Amino acid sequence: MCGIIGYIGQKNSTPFLIEGLKKLEYRGYDSAGLCVLKNKKLYTLKKKGKIAELEKDQRLKNISGLIGIAHTRWATHGEPNERNAHPHFDCHKNIAIAHNGIIENHTALKKILTKEGHRIISQTDSEIFAHLIEKFYQGNLEKAVSQTLKLVDGSYGLVVIHQQENKIIAARKGSPLIIGVGQNEMLVASDTAALLAHTKKVIYLDDEEMAIISKDKYSIKNLDGQRLNKQIEEIKWTVAQMEKKGFKHFMLKEIFEQPQSVTETIRGRIKNNKIKISIGFNLESIERIIITACGTSWHAALIGKYLLEQLAQIPTEVDYASEFRYRQPLIRKNNLMIAISQSGETADTLAALREAKKNQAKTLGIINVVGSTISREVDSGIYLYAGPEIGVASTKAFTSQVSALILLSLYLRQKQNLPLDKKILVDLKKIPEKIKEVLQVDRQIKKIAFAFKDARNFLYLGRGINFPVALEGALKLKEISYIHAEGYPAAEMKHGPIALIDSQMPVVFIAPKNALSSKIISNMQEVKARAGKIIAVTDYPDKEIKKVAEYIIKVPSINNYLSPIINSIPLQLLAYHIADLKNINVDKPRNLAKSVTVE
Ligand code: AGP
Repeated sequence: MCGIIGYIGQKNSTPFLIEGLKKLEYRGYDSAGLCVLKNKKLYTLKKKGKIAELEKDQRLKNISGLIGIAHTRWATHGEPNERNAHPHFDCHKNIAIAHNGIIENHTALKKILTKEGHRIISQTDSEIFAHLIEKFYQGNLEKAVSQTLKLVDGSYGLVVIHQQENKIIAARKGSPLIIGVGQNEMLVASDTAALLAHTKKVIYLDDEEMAIISKDKYSIKNLDGQRLNKQIEEIKWTVAQMEKKGFKHFMLKEIFEQPQSVTETIRGRIKNNKIKISIGFNLESIERIIITACGTSWHAALIGKYLLEQLAQIPTEVDYASEFRYRQPLIRKNNLMIAISQSGETADTLAALREAKKNQAKTLGIINVVGSTISREVDSGIYLYAGPEIGVASTKAFTSQVSALILLSLYLRQKQNLPLDKKILVDLKKIPEKIKEVLQVDRQIKKIAFAFKDARNFLYLGRGINFPVALEGALKLKEISYIHAEGYPAAEMKHGPIALIDSQMPVVFIAPKNALSSKIISNMQEVKARAGKIIAVTDYPDKEIKKVAEYIIKVPSINNYLSPIINSIPLQLLAYHIADLKNINVDKPRNLAKSVTVE
């Protein structure tokens, strides 16, 4: 989704802006632009398409200056074109702004501004900011911005420059902005990825805060102009973690990183056969858990429901964050809301969390990005420590989310003194080794991918705790290969989807050896009887499965509660190889954004 980078210092800002924009590319965008201040004049360049288009333009060479802002836009209001690309300007081109988020009352504001004579040239809501600031500007940019922000409903990560002032004003509400503190230079970005190469010292802006940034100092204020004391924090991620390291795509690298990422999630959290996680509030009174999330994180949440109900014996509901926030959910004081999010910035998940907080539920985050908005708003949290995930399709974050949910469920069980089969802890420690083992199916999966790369549809079927794995397998395939895919509980197939099955329909079964094995074999037979092509992911390729399956992907055996971690990996690889064979830009599939910071 949209990205912001700003620079102010002693060097030419243009290379910083271009490099920063490239670091934000993974978030997804369809136009880009920059604006640089030199000798009290603003110079700008905007392009539809990729950042490479900006770089190719000869005019970029003539743009230099010590202060600049830049933006990657993911279209919401108005198609992706140069006019709608940011930065946007006021009528006299004195002011430039870049904005992430949505101004909800922009139609009303536009009417007022147009009546007052402002000429608004783009279809975006964002341009309103430049005109409002122009309206209020009387020689003090900071004041004009704060007056503007008081009029605006909606969300913003905003950076503003004025040709008469050697500063950047940054402001945030509901869309992240981070100040990077360097040596005689300061940066501002919507994502730490754009700052890492220059500084690890950062200040996270909170909602309704403004930063006034010059090359060697900054101050943070609320919208009434009162100074705030904000702590400088340190980013733990390294630049090396953000590189492909010889892999063709980030997604493939991240799939292969899973032995390590899951190790990091469980590291130090199992000691002497006990789960050690620190939750900053009393869990004893919790009578009901609600998990909220979106996309892949929502699939992890569904697995979490099985784990929390079966291991921790606590009634658990799972809700799409986008539905939860508007359906006036019944939330009680003794409810625990768990928000799961890789990025920690997903707008719907954040809104659902706030809804729960408003109703005094306790809140817990399962988050990967340290310092992200959700991680700072929850009462307590379990960080994944999976390292940066750059590929738009979530892989390692998912297996770490499931690992964190296993730890939490076992911890809650332990807290209630319920008996625990120690074998699950033994298997949990073995998980990284088992992941290494399952990754060896990569070669075989490439062949399967070749056989099915031209399929128009796919079905993914699983049961019990592996039903959400089927959903996740289908989502991965859809996202990056653009093949239509559906996930279903295997038994549900005969209530409708069975009508789709013919010789052109590949059906992926997640079929571990467990209490439901014979049932899933029956489901396979139903598919085979209709000439469907079965791909079975299983740890027990017995003769019944061999009889019906076209392809068998053999995975290592593991405790059933942990099996979603192992079973999801071949599905990630299948989606990856099919997409790669179709020459799709796997890391940046069309229309998708890494972190969805608007509704
Ligand atoms: C995953 O492959 C997706 N790109 C997407 O569904 C994602 O999981 C969803 O947008 C939630 O993101 P979050 O985990 O950062 O909140």
